[in-house]
Amino acid sequence: MKGIILAGGSGTRLHPITKSVNKQLLPIYDKPLVYYPLSVLMLAGIREVLLISTPRDLPAFKDLFGDGSLLGMRICYAQQDEPRGLAEAFTIGREFLAGEPCALVLGDNMFHGQDLTRILSNARMTVENKGGAVVFGYPVKDARAFGVVEFDEDHKVVGIEEKPSDPKSNYAVPGLYFYDGQVSDFASKVEPSSRGELEITSINNAYLERGELSVELMGRGMAWLDTGTPAGMLKAAEYVEAVQSRQGYFIACIEEIAYRRKFIDSDQLRTLGEKLKKTDYGRYLISIADEEQVN
Ligand code: DAU
Repeated sequence: MKGIILAGGSGTRLHPITKSVNKQLLPIYDKPLVYYPLSVLMLAGIREVLLISTPRDLPAFKDLFGDGSLLGMRICYAQQDEPRGLAEAFTIGREFLAGEPCALVLGDNMFHGQDLTRILSNARMTVENKGGAVVFGYPVKDARAFGVVEFDEDHKVVGIEEKPSDPKSNYAVPGLYFYDGQVSDFASKVEPSSRGELEITSINNAYLERGELSVELMGRGMAWLDTGTPAGMLKAAEYVEAVQSRQGYFIACIEEIAYRRKFIDSDQLRTLGEKLKKTDYGRYLISIADEEQVN
């Protein structure tokens, strides 16, 4: 399975912070926002990733991740000239995907929770073994800013609506989607919505109409954090700080995940840590490399 991170957009909802800096490069506590969605793909066991961003911002992402080899991955890059909508990820990514199943994660979406790895591996297995698509439903107090799941009386999913003014449920669809090899074909048929965007929701409804969409509900134990406003970003940073300082485990530490997933070995991990050893982050990497050598 391959992965796509969509990390473009105009960032207008966060101006002036994002006037000259891509949103996904802003810090959430101790690491850039984009580390969080990348870590999700890595936790799903994905080693080949396409990062899509704007012509202005791609050089910064290349500077951050290079070709991915330091993480034992292959990271490629592609440009989206204008933010025409999320569905465009799959027409831009058609050649990269080459008909393989994939996971798309939005560059500004953060997930954390004990169940995450299991949820990811189930979604991956479903799509790889049975085909179709898997998306998620996450309960929120106000779903109007999201894709929203509509259920019938038997709790069967009957539709997904993008940013409804009157949501039919409180289950929002987070920015993490698993698709089989048909997705680029579906994406090329999507027409702009009334707000002028190529909506991911149109792709999800196309799968639903064919009876090939599964919507997995995420429970209370999962955190899906909002980074859409300055207050949301601050709260997300406080969440990361609180968990990390209490537990001693880092969230979305891509080098640690690369090591634990055996993308890299302990010597490679230590080398990455040495480069950052003035920071808690770097010392954390070194401590993991050392700890494993003792055991
Ligand atoms: O976060 C989950 C929600 O994401 C879903 O519930 C919605 O169904 C989905 O449409 C999307 O809604 P948003 O309004 O939050 O998407 P936004 O336009 O903020 O874009 C999400 C990320 O994708 C953001 O980091 C910028 C990037 N992006 C967005 C567009 C429209 C691109 O890279 N290219 C684009 O063309």
